Amino acid sequence: MRRALITGITGQDGSYLAEHLLSLGYEVHGIVRRIALEDPGHRMKRIAHLLDDLVLHPGTMESYGSIVSVLAQQRFDECYHLAAQSFVPESFVDGFSTLNVNTTGTHHVLAALRQTQPEARFYFAGSSEMFGRAREVPQRESTPFHPRSPYGISKLAAYWLTVNHREAFGMHCSSGILFNHESPRRPHEFVSRKITRGAARIASGLERQLALGNLDARRDWGHAADYVRAMHLMLQQDAPADFVVGTGRSHSVRDLCAVAFEAVGLDYREHVTVDPRFLRPAEVDVLEADASAARDRLGWEPTYTFEGMVREMVDADLATARAGAS
Ligand code: NAP
Ligand code: GDD
Repeated sequence: MRRALITGITGQDGSYLAEHLLSLGYEVHGIVRRIALEDPGHRMKRIAHLLDDLVLHPGTMESYGSIVSVLAQQRFDECYHLAAQSFVPESFVDGFSTLNVNTTGTHHVLAALRQTQPEARFYFAGSSEMFGRAREVPQRESTPFHPRSPYGISKLAAYWLTVNHREAFGMHCSSGILFNHESPRRPHEFVSRKITRGAARIASGLERQLALGNLDARRDWGHAADYVRAMHLMLQQDAPADFVVGTGRSHSVRDLCAVAFEAVGLDYREHVTVDPRFLRPAEVDVLEADASAARDRLGWEPTYTFEGMVREMVDADLATARAGAS
């Protein structure tokens, strides 16, 4: 039985990846913050249905000691490093902790693997935010990076640490350069979930307006369940490498509003307002993937459409709103 370790297992991607690896017969371990172990009902809600099948270890990305103690106890075939401060606006508020968790945290995981089990295969959760003010559309593996936020910078530095462990120490380290991916498990503050939840609550009579920021930004939005398959496929390759993962189609925030509100029979123009509080100090205008390398070399294809993914999220948020939950 193959054994995998997931950091960030309580997050959106961690929960889908854990499901996927369990379905493939893996023994799945996760590192979770101690506070999550103390409050599982709230902090482990995305993996509540899996808890009997997982082995969880307390640890935090800020502490090398906590990570190396997990890796010293057990050998893993694969390590998926997903833990991060993943909300871009928060990185403008507190860039220091974002760099600490995302960059130094990644360094901790890489160094602990190198010390205890350099033969383990390592996946790093890179991001299309690393392209930032992109010089070409669509973006591929060779597109130059120009991050526009402390989050993007933190991911880019961690990406280079991953490349360096591959080149300097011969470790099997790969990065996925993943474009935005969503699901009903997406936290509320990300724009997709904010919109689908807002549309559901307005349709249910719980709210009247939804305040957003830049409606013209374009993103290549896919579904998280599709993207975790790409993570796994990367670690099955003989040679480590970095891959762009996205659908190849971009939509604006306005398009997402239109699909979500239409799904509940409303016109978004009557409910969405623009509030400057949600604008960013530096914006990324257009992200769109050229994932042909993932398609050709990994055999990876997305299965969800943009409209299908948005409708799935709206349906889940409608059910929550009708049940009177938040
Ligand atoms: P997410 O839902 O925000 O999950 C983040 C995970 O990291 C959670 O399990 C969180 O634990 C954990 N974490 C945060 N700080 C930690 C710390 N100091 N110590 C230990 N664990 C910590 O993110 P996601 O959407 O699943 O994304 C997974 C990864 O892919 C992230 O690295 C993200 O930056 C990257 N990524 C995401 C996308 C996307 O569109 N979703 C695209 C490209 C890259 P708690 O539950 O305890 O907070
Ligand atoms: N969050 C948010 N809230 N974003 C808004 C809003 C709003 O009210 N109004 C407009 N937007 C715009 C943002 O300015 C941005 O251009 C776009 O919607 C998407 O924002 P998010 O959903 O917050 O995602 P992101 O693109 O900044 O970052 C996500 O994708 C990255 C990959 O490209 C995160 O998942 C990152 O962790 C990930 O790396």
